[in-house]
Amino acid sequence: MSKIIAPSILSADFSRLGEEVRAVLDAGADWVHFDVMDNHYVPNLTIGPMVCKSLRNYGIDEFIDVHLMVKPVDPLIKMFIDSGADLISFHPEATDDLDATLKLIKDSGCKAGIAVNPEEDISIAKKYIEDIDLVLLMSVNPGFGGQKFIEPVLEKIKMMRSFIDQSKNNVHLEVDGGINVDNINEVCVAGADTFVLGSAIFNTDDYSDTISALRNNIA
Ligand code: DX5
Ligand code: ZN
Repeated sequence: MSKIIAPSILSADFSRLGEEVRAVLDAGADWVHFDVMDNHYVPNLTIGPMVCKSLRNYGIDEFIDVHLMVKPVDPLIKMFIDSGADLISFHPEATDDLDATLKLIKDSGCKAGIAVNPEEDISIAKKYIEDIDLVLLMSVNPGFGGQKFIEPVLEKIKMMRSFIDQSKNNVHLEVDGGINVDNINEVCVAGADTFVLGSAIFNTDDYSDTISALRNNIA
C-alpha cells in the first residue's frame, strides 16, 4: 500500500482554510484529515459538516478523511456524507452500537474506520478488520494538536501491522498525533502507511519542503 500523508487541518490558519488546504495538497499531501471535536467526547470544539461542504464548494476534490471525536456519533454521519466526506472514522467507546454505526457509514458508500485511543488495545479493530477500510491508531490523547508522540503506541502499530498483513485485508493503518520529520521513519518502520500530521506541517514556512522531507523519511 502506498504511503499517504494526511495533514490535519486542526493546525491550519482557519482565517484562510480553503487556501491552506489547497496549498498543502499542491505541496504534495494526499488526503485532508478533518478532525471533528464536540467538546463532549473530547475537551475541545472544532469544525462540522458545513466546513467540509465549504471545502468541497471551494474546489477541494481530494480525499477527505473525517475523524469523528464526538459522542454520539450517528447523528453526524449522514451530515458528513452529504457534505462530501470520503471516509469517516469514529471511536468505538462513543457509540452504543458499533455495528449500526458502521452500517450507517458504509450503506452510503462512504469508507469506514475505527479509531483506537492510546490506552485502548487493538482487539476491537481486529474484530472488525473485514468490515473497515482503515484503522486509526491515536498516538496522542485526542483533543489537541501539537502534543508529544506517545512512544508505547509503536508496539501497537507493529501488532496491528502484522495482523492486517496476516488477514490479507486491504486496510489502511493510519497513525494520528505527535508525528514529525524526526519520528515519522520510526512510525513507518513500525508499520503505518497513512500519517496524520497537523502542527509538523502547518507550523512550517514551506509546505513543499516539509512534505518532501517527510516523504524522504518514509521512502
Ligand atoms: C488529536 C488530533 C491531533 C491532530 C494531529 O485529537 O487528532 O492528533 O490530528 O496533530 P499534531 O500533528 O499537531 O499532533
Ligand atoms: Zn485526527
